[in-house]
Amino acid sequence: MSKNKHEKVEKHVGWFAVFSIIAISIGGLVEITPLLFQKQLQEPVKNLRPYTALELEGRDIYIREGCVGCHSQMIRPFRAETERYGHYSVAGEHVWEHPHLWGSKRTGPDLARVGGRYSDEWHYVHLVNPRAVVPESNMPAYPWLATNTLDGKLTARKMRAFQRLGVPYTDEDIDGAQAAVQGKTEMEALIAYLQSLGTALR
Ligand code: HEC
Repeated sequence: MSKNKHEKVEKHVGWFAVFSIIAISIGGLVEITPLLFQKQLQEPVKNLRPYTALELEGRDIYIREGCVGCHSQMIRPFRAETERYGHYSVAGEHVWEHPHLWGSKRTGPDLARVGGRYSDEWHYVHLVNPRAVVPESNMPAYPWLATNTLDGKLTARKMRAFQRLGVPYTDEDIDGAQAAVQGKTEMEALIAYLQSLGTALR
């Protein structure tokens, strides 16, 4: 473009906006498109398995209660993090997460590999009243989880939706879903979910 034309574009706010949008879109496409097709980012890690019906319900409770507002699930590849939390998070652990719960705020510790770190009883006591095990904790208490029970009416439909998104649930998993969660407490579901976190890669 000659200097004159360039100047015209720069001085005309409408044209300038249009050309800026085109330039930024091309930049965005060049950066983002390859990520969508990179095999390493699409392949599940070797031991990854879909959430069980109970874990899946627990995950929904995690979302409902806003745990993601204080807890990330994304261990960054820095020594300070890997020494505290374990192996850094990799894309292949999260390929079946819809939506992902990586989070961006750490009022509490990262939970990406909390599975197996504590006993079920510890989680129970902690969720009913965090101060009972960590006196200085400012995490809210969630006592109602211990008494609310699941009816499992929607569990199969949720799993069907995930199946459509490519999560390898079998029809047997889905048929047995309601029976697997019915009557269980929300606490049991949430703890099952927490205990599964990060266990596919150690
Ligand atoms: C207001 C912020 C906040 C919210 C919301 C919150 N937490 Fe926490 N959480 C914390 C803090 C702070 C700690 C560290 C002190 C402690 O262990 O209680 C913590 C600790 C934990 C731990 C122990 C982690 C470890 O490695 O020691 C678990 C598990 C946990 N939270 C689960 C949950 C779950 C599940 C929810 C949602 C039901 C939740 N948290 C909601 C702030 C929060």
